[in-house]
Amino acid sequence: MFSFKIFLAAFAAVASTAVHATPVDEPVQNVVFSPPITAPTAGMTWPIGSEQVVTWDTSVVPAGSENQTGLLLLGYLEDNSEHLDIQHPLANNFPISAGSVQVLVPNVTTRNDYIVVLFGDSGNISPEFTII
Ligand SMILES: *[C@@H]1O[C@H](CO)[C@@H](O)[C@H](O)[C@H]1NC(C)=O
Ligand SMILES: *[C@@H]1O[C@H](CO)[C@@H](O)[C@H](O)[C@H]1NC(C)=O
Repeated sequence: MFSFKIFLAAFAAVASTAVHATPVDEPVQNVVFSPPITAPTAGMTWPIGSEQVVTWDTSVVPAGSENQTGLLLLGYLEDNSEHLDIQHPLANNFPISAGSVQVLVPNVTTRNDYIVVLFGDSGNISPEFTII
């Protein structure tokens, strides 16, 4: 079992490299693609060691983002902060256009406030779910 650490500083670094911020006075060029996560859903349970499928809505893939790859991180919410385990991504380098990726649930502490965050251009957070 590995324990989660607080990687907020590192997370900020990941987020800042992942986000292609567009200056406000430069319209049109904004291709930030952050599809909403459709699974896991709120309150669902993932048993440790099981295979689960994380899915997201790809109905609106902006032009230029067709070949973009994603990064999926596990984390939990505590004190209004996202504690993301950036050292053990659940999945990496998968095509975002696929709309889903299969993950192996790691042996982590039982909590009911786990989240996954899907990074394309920017991060998108799932509802909270349980791992036991
Ligand atoms: C998870 O890790 C704990 C502590 O190392 C261990 O006792 C337990 O057997 C592990 N569970 C699984 C399903 O691997
Ligand atoms: C995506 O990949 C295909 C095949 O390699 C390529 O033809 C296309 O130009 C790429 N699209 C973008 C937006 O990079």
